[in-house]
Amino acid sequence: MTMDKTRVKCYSVADYEKQAELKITDTAALGYFNGGTEGTETLRDNLAAFSRYKLRPRHMRDISTINTKQRVLGCDIDFPVVVAPFAFAKMAHPDGEYAVARACAGMDTAFTLSSWTSKSIDDVTKESSTGVKWLQLYLVKDRRVIVNVVRKAERHGFKAILVTIDLKIPSNRLTDKRNQFTMGNSELLRSPNASIDDTDQFHLLSLSWDDISWLKSITKLQVAVKGVMTREDAIEAVQHGVDGIVVSNHGGRALDCVEASIDALSEIVEAVKHSGVDILMDSGIRKGTDVIKALALGAKAVMVGRPIVWGLAVDGENGVKSVLEILKNELRISMGLCGCQSLSDINQTVIKKSTSSRL
Ligand code: FNR
Repeated sequence: MTMDKTRVKCYSVADYEKQAELKITDTAALGYFNGGTEGTETLRDNLAAFSRYKLRPRHMRDISTINTKQRVLGCDIDFPVVVAPFAFAKMAHPDGEYAVARACAGMDTAFTLSSWTSKSIDDVTKESSTGVKWLQLYLVKDRRVIVNVVRKAERHGFKAILVTIDLKIPSNRLTDKRNQFTMGNSELLRSPNASIDDTDQFHLLSLSWDDISWLKSITKLQVAVKGVMTREDAIEAVQHGVDGIVVSNHGGRALDCVEASIDALSEIVEAVKHSGVDILMDSGIRKGTDVIKALALGAKAVMVGRPIVWGLAVDGENGVKSVLEILKNELRISMGLCGCQSLSDINQTVIKKSTSSRL
């Protein structure tokens, strides 16, 4: 058997990140995937913030079985790490969203299709007919477009709609400007009446919470809002009938200088703790210990963006599967070493905020 000496085995998400940087040779594409906005303060803090939380292991507990199963947004998944929506997966690998959806189905977790998908929703469903699928939506102005997309998602068996609320206008991505990277078009949200370059059409400037109530009124699918960073918005979201909230700063790609998502999580969990809505969290998850920290602070599940891009770039469907396997395995190890048999054992007693963030 001949070995591919150029292929380095990856044991962690960090290994995948390094390999992906070698694999993605188009500077503008790499900048788009890995970049943030303006001074990238939030992008960097999303990662640094996790080291401000320390785990509190409990020993001498029976961990002969460790169960990572979770139910979130009405869907059963094997472990509480789901794939965040990201645009233009085809730029990382020709199989794009097909590969990511198949990998999620193979790992028994949820896949979220971006509004800016590089493959059609029909083809993604054809190429990956099994597995939990959610759809990320930008609520564009033309409601007929929304109704059409929602009906398509329903027909194709999607289970939830995640409305992204933190990018009403395009953010200031300096790397993309320097690289002259321009977004392609969203086929999914193409409107018969509006130019697809019309910013106002895509990032509905007058979007309000009433639009969420309207969306809830036209579908039985679960509706979550993605991009909540304050208790005030979390309360609004609950008052307007959402089933879920994704605490997220868009991986540091929307407004810069907002706090790390993991730091915003507690105030949001506290504000809506009696509502029964599912809280998810993303931005900066790279390790199993990050996952257990987010769960300890009250998230039901986390979403991952760039780690999936990196797995996809390195090895297509297998790479994405491997990234998910790494995170699942690291979570199991962290649970075991913290003395947690199941996700319900992961609570505030497992974590403490440290005064020092030294690594
Ligand atoms: C994103 N994200 C995103 N979010 C969304 O709602 N719609 C989208 O189309 C995209 N597109 C997108 C492209 C790329 C290249 C990235 C990296 C991210 C944000 C994404 O869903 C998620 O919030 C972050 O990626 C989470 O942060 P991490 O895991 O990348 O640190």
